[in-house]
Amino acid sequence: MTKGFTVWLTGLSGAGKSTIAQALAQELRERECPVEVLDGDEVRENLSKGLGFSREDRDTNIRRISYVASLLAKHGVAVVTAAISPYAAARAEARERIGEFVEVYVRCSIPELVRRDVKGLYKLAIAGEITNFTGISDPYEEPEHPEVIVDSERETAEQSVSAIIEALEIRGLVPALSGVLS
Ligand code: ADX
Repeated sequence: MTKGFTVWLTGLSGAGKSTIAQALAQELRERECPVEVLDGDEVRENLSKGLGFSREDRDTNIRRISYVASLLAKHGVAVVTAAISPYAAARAEARERIGEFVEVYVRCSIPELVRRDVKGLYKLAIAGEITNFTGISDPYEEPEHPEVIVDSERETAEQSVSAIIEALEIRGLVPALSGVLS
């Protein structure tokens, strides 16, 4: 059985966590790893329905995600999580619980996120129509020592995935892709 681990993507809304999570999951499947993605939006639809965006609710959301990730990883699954997870203490707790934990900071500047505004939420947050919006009216504590930093303003999702895969290979968590040398 392969060794389970968790790639914990953290970053602001719209930074590209979900896109990178899906592309990374695909890459891991090609390496025959059993994979599960725990995406913030999806978790909030199911496991965390009813939770809001106070610090307490966010911490509860992150604890639920890390609990499920720890169960899956224990059984050899490669888990990819994609939640803002804005508080360093909650991420540290997740790291503690999970063990084989690769923290990836998906960086993107606020001006660029406001420009993209994929879900239209930044506009509402700036107008004060959504309160406690991460990066605008609620804190985001940048990771101090993440295993990987990717920057969606300066690199493609494919480049970000390659950087994460390299970090996993260095740690012996995924096998190198074999047989496709041209
Ligand atoms: S977390 O803080 O608990 O990790 P999570 O990743 O699950 O957050 O959910 C974030 C998503 O909820 C955002 O991408 C956005 O679509 C939506 N959202 C709605 N209100 C807020 C808010 N006040 N702050 C951040 N995200 C919000």
